[in-house]
Amino acid sequence: MLKTNHELSSRPAFPLHQRTCEVKVNDPVNSQYRYLVVSAPDELLDCEPGQFFHLLCEPEGDDQPFFRRPMSIYGFDRDRGELSFLYKVTGAGTRSLASLRAGDGLDVVGPLGVGFTLPEDMTHPLLVARGVGLATLAPLARAFRQRGVKTTAICSARSADLLMSVELFEALGVRVIPVTDADGNSGTGAIEALIERLVAEEKVDGLYTCGSKRLTTLLKRVSSSHGIFGEVALEQHMACGVGVCQACVLPFSRDGRTQDLRVCRDGPVFNLTEVL
Ligand SMILES: Cc1cc2nc3c(=O)[nH]c(=O)nc-3n(C[C@H](O)[C@H](O)[C@H](O)COP(=O)(O)OP(=O)(O)OC[C@H]3O[C@@H](n4cnc5c(N)ncnc54)[C@H](O)[C@@H]3O)c2cc1C
Ligand code: FES
Repeated sequence: MLKTNHELSSRPAFPLHQRTCEVKVNDPVNSQYRYLVVSAPDELLDCEPGQFFHLLCEPEGDDQPFFRRPMSIYGFDRDRGELSFLYKVTGAGTRSLASLRAGDGLDVVGPLGVGFTLPEDMTHPLLVARGVGLATLAPLARAFRQRGVKTTAICSARSADLLMSVELFEALGVRVIPVTDADGNSGTGAIEALIERLVAEEKVDGLYTCGSKRLTTLLKRVSSSHGIFGEVALEQHMACGVGVCQACVLPFSRDGRTQDLRVCRDGPVFNLTEVL
């Protein structure tokens, strides 16, 4: 029986790393998204795909973000000593992040949470995400490709200009299938038919998603009807981010019963069968 990262995780609850990292890049990618790269010491780069950092967003004008904001790891490069994030500017916290310039300091806590499971015998994982959800799946795609595993990604967005990470995925050798609302092929029915074809004809044996309730429900259905291993990285409002305050608790089905689990500490990655 496959052991998930939850079962294998031997990470101690503490210590937590809090560091001030120098911003190297914080550039717009398109009208909504920005790419942030910070320099990071080794202890921060001991991380896994699917984990996240909690970023301190300084007050900026009328924006007074109180809590840190959780951000998935978009990339980590131990040789270059860099950590990167891809974020959508939505409110006070991310507006504050957007104001950072090269050379500024960014206070980060992490890496946090439980990341994705990469089963040794998986031969064709399928990554499905919409918008910025793809940021969370990028390091997973890189890890599979480093193992030489055939990987396919269905990238969904409202329009072609908002499709994220397509070039990055392609550069990694991932086959990308873009779907957009504008082209009319991003609806649940169309994506389900596409996935069913990939399962039947190309032996997809792993399903991963992030950030969309609709896609999570769809992948859970496909996972259960074909008995395919699958995981989702959930996004949930957080306060402490380290498992103490219970602000991020959701009900899950685990060990045959409904359990309240903390998305920040028990996740953010969960098996699709556990999501209610
Ligand atoms: C584990 C995790 C990883 C994440 N990774 C990324 C990432 O890689 N890139 C990215 O752009 N965003 C990511 N998010 C979402 C990001 O944390 C929120 O967009 C951010 O906190 C918004 O802060 P804000 O102050 O700019 O906006 P706010 O003013 O706080 O909120 C703006 C809008 O976003 C919603 N929102 C706020 N926080 C969250 C949240 N935690 N989850 C879901 N919706 C939220 C609010 O309901 C509101 O509609 C992640 C969230 C989690 C929990
Ligand atoms: S955010 Fe505090 S327990 Fe999860």
